[in-house]
Amino acid sequence: MMSIISTDINKAIQILNQDDLVAIPTETVYGLAGNIYSEKAIKKIFELKKRPYFNPLIVHVGSIQQLDLLVEEIPEKAKILGNTFWPGPLTMVLKKKDSVPNRVTAGKNTVAIRIPNHPVVLQLLQSLDFPLAAPSANLFGSISPTNANHVATYFQNDLQMILDGGNCQKGIESTIIGFENNEPILYRLGSLSIEDIKNSIGKVQIKNNNEKSPDAPGMLSRHYAPKTPTLLEEDVATLVNKNKEKKIGLLLFDKPLETEIIYHQEILSKNSDLKEAAANLYAALHRLDKMNLDIIIAQEFPNHSLGKSINDRLTRATKK
Ligand code: TXA
Ligand code: MG
Repeated sequence: MMSIISTDINKAIQILNQDDLVAIPTETVYGLAGNIYSEKAIKKIFELKKRPYFNPLIVHVGSIQQLDLLVEEIPEKAKILGNTFWPGPLTMVLKKKDSVPNRVTAGKNTVAIRIPNHPVVLQLLQSLDFPLAAPSANLFGSISPTNANHVATYFQNDLQMILDGGNCQKGIESTIIGFENNEPILYRLGSLSIEDIKNSIGKVQIKNNNEKSPDAPGMLSRHYAPKTPTLLEEDVATLVNKNKEKKIGLLLFDKPLETEIIYHQEILSKNSDLKEAAANLYAALHRLDKMNLDIIIAQEFPNHSLGKSINDRLTRATKK
């Protein structure tokens, strides 16, 4: 069978212009992209992902100028954030213009927007006459894809094309910031650290645990989850001993566990670098999930900078 993985940007443009979908690379994770103004394309995004219709999509644009067509007003702190971190792993939720289709925003009066920082997708966005709606290119609730092969395992039979941009450099989804009374609220921890945001605009309220009626359903308690039962633990060695008879896979920060009884260990950063660990997180989870393990035991990461975002994803991966 011919591979649908390709680097042909012109072909991607052609497919998107015909109201169909293309999986796109970004610096965070791969997205499942379609024209925001095409009813057919947006419907197909929700169908392929099996995503509930109440969960709005992120709109991707190629430049700050394009914002004027999409949003009513931009709070001062949003301007600072956009000028500082775009293109980059930041999504901002802003008051939408009527012209942004409700099916993209799940009926909300706000729209989530980001300018991704990846040369391939920037070139693509700048060649199109419309922005791209793109959720992460995985089935709803499962592990996000950080390379083209991950996307192919989910959607090999459903897509004409996966635009190949290599491995995602950041590896965790964008950080989502909204505004209430012009003050910033963080809805989703992500690849842009809270520390970086605070350095730019000062205090930010964090509201990423609203499980009953989530502002950002990426914040649903179970999400980013492998099929294999997964545990998150401070003291990995003790938990391993309690599970001796099982086929165990470990997900560790910087050092292997000295033991014979582990089937496989993933070390996310030998240099103890949280950015490198974040970039490797999902690929390691994808590998572990393919090994027919009884359990995956993940180590709790240092709870600062991107360690916070990693812990957030691992916590959601362990929820039943
Ligand atoms: O890094 C990323 O953000 C990736 C790449 C492809 O850009 N995209 C991504 O999309 O993670 P998705 O759909 O998997 O997650 C988008 C999150 C969801 O949790 C959704 O609820 C939230 O953004 N969201 C979208 N529009 C929103 C809005 N108007 N208000 C609040 N949350 C919103
Ligand atoms: Mg997602």
